[in-house]
Amino acid sequence: MSDIKKIKDEFLLRLKKNLDLNQVNQIKTELFGKTGLISSQFKQLGKLAEDERKKFASDLNLVKNELEDLITTKINDIETKEINKKLEKEKIDITLPERPFIQGKIHPVSQVIDEISSIFSEIGFSVEEGPDVENEYNNFTALNTPDNHPARDMHDTFYLDDAKELLLRTHTSPVQIRTMLNNKPPFKIIAPGRTYRSDSDQTHTPMFHQVEGLHIDKKINMGHLKGCLNYFIKEFFEVDKIKMRFRPSHFPFTEPSAEVDIGYEIKDGKIVIGEGDKWLEVLGCGMVHPNVLKNVKVNPDEFQGYAFGIGIDRLAMLKYGINDLRAFFDCDYRWLNHFGFDPIDVPTNYRGLSR
Ligand code: PHE
Repeated sequence: MSDIKKIKDEFLLRLKKNLDLNQVNQIKTELFGKTGLISSQFKQLGKLAEDERKKFASDLNLVKNELEDLITTKINDIETKEINKKLEKEKIDITLPERPFIQGKIHPVSQVIDEISSIFSEIGFSVEEGPDVENEYNNFTALNTPDNHPARDMHDTFYLDDAKELLLRTHTSPVQIRTMLNNKPPFKIIAPGRTYRSDSDQTHTPMFHQVEGLHIDKKINMGHLKGCLNYFIKEFFEVDKIKMRFRPSHFPFTEPSAEVDIGYEIKDGKIVIGEGDKWLEVLGCGMVHPNVLKNVKVNPDEFQGYAFGIGIDRLAMLKYGINDLRAFFDCDYRWLNHFGFDPIDVPTNYRGLSR
């Protein structure tokens, strides 16, 4: 029997057996690898006489094709079987009851912080943050607040130590100090966050939220402050017209200082912003006091600007018609379900702030 026939018979027999993928590949190498049996037979061709060579080559090719085809079929079969096995195992039981789907809601305060950040970033403000636990210097002294100022009183401020060096910040203004100490002017930032005062009634909670604004550059004046706040209030309440009033006031860290009221009226039990003859206080502001700039090593003869502090919870109550501030922090899911926002609807000036 010729070598070719022997190879063919032997391998046909072997390939008939129940083989796994590795075993078939092994056989493939034995036959067609570089030093494989079929490959070696082809190398014999050169040694044969002309007339023998033709027949040998044609026999060899036939066997080669037959074995190759068989191997390919075997591999395909094995792979198909494996896929079917997997599919069988991965069957989904559609008779199972679904898992409960609970979707959370965005708290109105978080929503309003996002809206505010979106509006101010459109006009070039970046967002800064500061810690809730502040030192006395950043919260009072650096902000030009004298030792005998009533805000320092224990009845208003939560101190964390007997020396009164650490406290829960009473406003977001210390972020002005942190920003100016750590960077070089110009500054154009807002700083939203939690603030604390010893106060509790329908419109005051011991923890509440403010957003600080600070814009310091070489030629910033009170006109810029008015323009900025006017733009903000219009964007925030999504109205074209706004009635705004600047009332002289006092803050140790601004001079001159003002409190800002916006005009509103109640129509059919609902608040309408920008019309009517009632006034509502929404923020404090002013031109940053030269002493504050000196405290953070900014030259007040070269740089000046404005600052403002807005009550976030107040804005949220007004915009979304919520009348008790305390409910904001009760963690009542029914309340949150009613007043909360869809997590996927991120507020932007383009897509709409509050849908
Ligand atoms: N920090 C002041 C407050 O809490 C608000 C304010 C900020 C006023 C910045 C002027 C400038 O009442």
